[in-house]
Amino acid sequence: MRRKIIAGNWKMNNDVSGTVNLISEIKKELNGKIVNADVIVCPPFTNLETAYTLVKDSSIKLGAQNMYYEESGAFTGEISPLMLKNVGCEFVILGHSERRTVFGEDDQIINKKIKSAIKHKLKPIFCIGETLNEREKGVTFKVIETQLKNGLEGLSENELSNLIVAYEPVWAIGTGKNATPQQAQEVHQFIRSLIAKMYSQNFAYQLVIQYGGSVKPDNAKELLSQPDIDGALVGGACLKADSFVKIIEAV
Ligand code: PGA
Repeated sequence: MRRKIIAGNWKMNNDVSGTVNLISEIKKELNGKIVNADVIVCPPFTNLETAYTLVKDSSIKLGAQNMYYEESGAFTGEISPLMLKNVGCEFVILGHSERRTVFGEDDQIINKKIKSAIKHKLKPIFCIGETLNEREKGVTFKVIETQLKNGLEGLSENELSNLIVAYEPVWAIGTGKNATPQQAQEVHQFIRSLIAKMYSQNFAYQLVIQYGGSVKPDNAKELLSQPDIDGALVGGACLKADSFVKIIEAV
C-alpha cells in the first residue's frame, strides 16, 4: 500500500518570521491528530534553516524548491545539493513548471538535477505536466512520456527508489481550475503504466505519484480518493495553516 504524501510548495512567499508563524500554526493544528500522510514543507532557500529548527522534533519533513546539480564552484546565485543537506532538507522539488517556463529549464538540466539529488541522497519530487495548448492539441500523453523518459534517462530502478513524481498540469497551477479527478486519474494511470514498461510492475506499483494544480480543501478528498493519486503538491492553499491541514486531513 502506497503511503500518501502531501507537500506544500511555498514558492517565493514568506520571510523568516512568516516561516516561523506558518510552521508553528501547522504544528499546532496537527497536534494530536492522526494523520495518514507524510507531510513536507518546502519554504524558500533563505528560510530552510529556520524551518528545520521548527520541524526537526515533529513528523513534518523539509524540502527545497530547486537546486543546482553541481556540488560547489563558480555558479553565481545557485544552491547545491550539499547545501540543502546541510540545512536539513530531505526532499527537493525538481522540474517544476515555473522552473521550466520562467527560468528556461529543459529536460536535460532536470535530468542532471535528478541524478545529482539522488547521488546526494535527496529525495526528488519530479514535476511533469502539459500546458493548456498541449492538452487542447491532444498531445498530453506524448508530452508526459517525453518529460518522464528524458527526466529519468540513465537512472536505474534501484537509484530511483526514493523518487516521487508530481503530475501538475500547467493550466491548473495557480489558476483555481484543478484537473477533474477523472482527468488527473487518467494521466496518473498512464504515468504508472509507462513506469511499469520502463522499469517493472513492482516498481510502478510502489511509486508515489502526487497531483498538483489548484488543490484545495474542497477538492482534495475527491482527487486523493482516485486509485493512482498518492498525494498532493500544494501551492496557494499551503500558505494558510488551516487550509493546508484540511488537505492533509482529507487523506
Ligand atoms: P497551486 O500550485 O496549488 O497554487 O496551483 C501548485 C504547484 O505549483 O505546485
